[in-house]
Amino acid sequence: MTLTNLPDPEIRARVVKQDLATVLHPLVQHRALEQNQMVITGAQGSTITDHDGTSYLDAMAGLWCVNIGYGRTELAQVAAEQMERIAYYPHTAMNLPAAQLGEQLNNLMGGGYHSYFVNSGSEANEAGFKVARQYAKHEFPDDFRFKTISRYYAYHGTTLATLAAGGMGDRKGKFEPFAGEFVHVPAPTCYRCPLGLEYPTCGVACAKAIETTILAEGPASVAEVIVEPIMSGVGVAVPPDEYHPMVEAICRKYDVLLHVDEVINGFGRTGKMFGHQHYGISPDIMAVAKGIVSAYVPIAATMVKNKVFDSFLGEDADARQVMQVNTYGGHPVAAAVAVRNIEILLEENLPQRATEMGNYLMQGLTDRLMRHAVCGQVRGKGLLVGIELVTDRASKTQLDSKLVGSVLSFCRKNGVIVGRSGGGARHSNVIVLSPPLIITRSECDMLIDVLDRALAFVVNPISVAI
Ligand SMILES: Cc1ncc(COP(=O)(O)O)c(C=O)c1O
Repeated sequence: MTLTNLPDPEIRARVVKQDLATVLHPLVQHRALEQNQMVITGAQGSTITDHDGTSYLDAMAGLWCVNIGYGRTELAQVAAEQMERIAYYPHTAMNLPAAQLGEQLNNLMGGGYHSYFVNSGSEANEAGFKVARQYAKHEFPDDFRFKTISRYYAYHGTTLATLAAGGMGDRKGKFEPFAGEFVHVPAPTCYRCPLGLEYPTCGVACAKAIETTILAEGPASVAEVIVEPIMSGVGVAVPPDEYHPMVEAICRKYDVLLHVDEVINGFGRTGKMFGHQHYGISPDIMAVAKGIVSAYVPIAATMVKNKVFDSFLGEDADARQVMQVNTYGGHPVAAAVAVRNIEILLEENLPQRATEMGNYLMQGLTDRLMRHAVCGQVRGKGLLVGIELVTDRASKTQLDSKLVGSVLSFCRKNGVIVGRSGGGARHSNVIVLSPPLIITRSECDMLIDVLDRALAFVVNPISVAI
């Protein structure tokens, strides 16, 4: 008997049984899954629905990615039509949707970029590291430029190289040691400055540390610096306005490429099409994923400035072509869906909507949550928000991890999915929000209300009914 022939509760029971017996899930403990089953079978707008009929406001847009919201059936049509036309051919040849997507992405950057297509944010950054190294081999043949400078507490992906570039000890520990070509510098996590300083008297010392590090490593060994404009995973760290222009100037001074990770920040999330556009900098390499296709199908890209692209031109004998390939790179079906997704982002003005709804949400959260002593700070840009939970504002001691967990559980029991930062003991006390950009005012009100009650529950669980 197929699953669909079974009555509803039996389907759910069968799925759970099949899954627990045969599937290995990321990040969650399987014992917890046995207790805490969710079988998501439907979604519309900002709401997801469990097979048992329970609905949740998804204030994380999946994994920070369903920017245009769930249930856009026209994307299914685009995929089906493209699959009927031509489902696949390797990207060593051209195809129509990928060419269209390349042009669209280039236009979003105001021109001057080529895109190399891959399947995930990790691959987009990984390909970026390789582009930086190959570029250095072409342009600085007498140097040995292979190092990437990155920030502690960053997250750039799940492959070995992107993990090594990242700076989250708890994500890396099980896979160490790494080869050592990624050199870390302090991050602009101002609420908990790693240098023990305070803005603005700090003089943005964390940006200056990049220059000190390039000099210490030897400029002839450094290929690139990688930054996420607003660090998301560590709890939405919005840097001081001067930070990124200072980093860019240092890169230019030492002929080091600037690699910007727009995997979460991109496609309207922070109120502009790309996060770096708040800071007026110009990436040499840029990784885009997630919002490029609102996660309807997998596709991502490594965008390179034409100065970098030009370095890959030459005669066959020069062997300057891109020395990497992904079977699914430039997949016509995924590219066609991404093209329509970006059209929707533009037609519905979703970056601007992220600013408007983000301001509304942040104001409401600040008004309601800062009344609780455990709320240390509400921060963010657009619809990328972090709520730092502490024992008290004066000491900034992180709220106990179990209590942060109970905030998440309270929200879920009350119909709202919120996220939590990574970053181990130092940073995992931040509730993170990254809802679909189409979230409505009334959904924002619900989110604020549930979080308000959740914080009251943490302080005084007996007085607050779940
Ligand atoms: C900033 C950033 N870069 C890269 C990645 C990796 O993307 P993916 O999971 O698609 O490989 C992520 C994933 O969350 C991310 O947050």
